[in-house]
Amino acid sequence: MLNFELYNPVNMVFGKGQIAKLSKLIPQNAKVLLAYGGGSIFKNGVHAQVAEALKGYEVTEFGGIEPNPRYETLMKAVTLIREKKLDYILAVGGGSVIDGVKFISAAVNFEGDPVDILVKRIRIENNTMPFGTVLTLPATGSEMNSGAVVTIDKTQEKLSFGGPAVFPQFSICDPTVISSLPKRQLQNGVIDAYTHVMEQYLTYPHDALLQDRFAESILQTLIEIGPDVVENPTDYKLASNFMWSCTMALNGLIQKGVPTDWATHMIGHELTALYEIDHARTLAIIGPNLYRVMFDSKKEKLAQYGKRVWGITATNVDGAATQAIEKTVQFFHTMGMETKISNYTADYEKTADFIVKRFEERGWKGLGERQNVTPEKVKAIVEMSY
Ligand code: NZQ
Ligand code: ZN
Repeated sequence: MLNFELYNPVNMVFGKGQIAKLSKLIPQNAKVLLAYGGGSIFKNGVHAQVAEALKGYEVTEFGGIEPNPRYETLMKAVTLIREKKLDYILAVGGGSVIDGVKFISAAVNFEGDPVDILVKRIRIENNTMPFGTVLTLPATGSEMNSGAVVTIDKTQEKLSFGGPAVFPQFSICDPTVISSLPKRQLQNGVIDAYTHVMEQYLTYPHDALLQDRFAESILQTLIEIGPDVVENPTDYKLASNFMWSCTMALNGLIQKGVPTDWATHMIGHELTALYEIDHARTLAIIGPNLYRVMFDSKKEKLAQYGKRVWGITATNVDGAATQAIEKTVQFFHTMGMETKISNYTADYEKTADFIVKRFEERGWKGLGERQNVTPEKVKAIVEMSY
């Protein structure tokens, strides 16, 4: 097992009715920026619950944080916080609002040009504004991790950053909030979480036995509940297991002591930046083709995954690994994912060359757990995804 440090200070407040606890979680004298997205929280009653819980606080609202949050929008919130001298942020939304608030929190007191946080990928270690979250969409794990992804509109770049100072102080995760989610977003949540586990599990055989079992159990749970939660989001057993699986998939635990990949996400982010394809759907497109192109590098772990998660009985490694990829694609289709770029845009022919050029400009010569996802491999993966 590799050496590791596990630090996670997030106070996870999970369950029905927990939004009412906000006043115990935010300091009484705080001047709060309430940040949200396109307005779903007004239709599903979440805003009303938050407003009720925040009675007595000085609250300034900031709406309009987009899916795939934009740097340009977030900087408006930074200006507002500075003007009104606010000192606490509450994110109410999905991964985009939470990621956006992480950026706002880091940018408010940043010495220098905040765009550098993204462009130079500065690790955020201190000087942030404290914030908490009320999660409305299980998917990203952002409610319990210290990473975020922000898009710069001007350059059409989707860039990640993070650091120990951008963990939420608390996250309220009430599974009943998912009942208003459109089917598409429920599907996205399952597949994003599934791929998060795959990025931290589907590498090569190693000695961290417990980590593998954690990862496999999250995958099995998502396979068990995924198709049903999409149809019955008001079923509390399904909703609560879905929400907790998504958090556990990316709260840092399963990545400790093991090699990790993340190349599917890096390539997928480019598809969102270029074509605005939903994050999870980019993963469903790229993931299986990455496993195909990197087959020799990943086949032992693919075979283990196939046997333990899908019950594949083939005894030879190549056969079990191939079947495991097929099972994964079938599951993605069951979950309503289309798995080709051409399903989303007619204008895809130059995508591979464009992405390779960008990666080369950024000096990304070798992604993945063995740094062997070279520009040539990226090209092959993207072209296979047309
Ligand atoms: O904006 P509103 O009106 O709230 O509507 C949102 C949005 O249109 C809607 N929604 C959210 N909760 C709802 C709801 N609609 C009805 N009822 C509810 N309860 O859903 C839409 C999508 O929301 P968004 O926050 O964009 O989705 P998601 O949570 O999937 O977040 C995606 C973003 O997170 C990033 C992605 O790249 C993408 O930008 N990621 C962040 C990660 C992290 N911080 O660790 C890791 C992930 O890999 C991912 O990259
Ligand atoms: Zn993701």
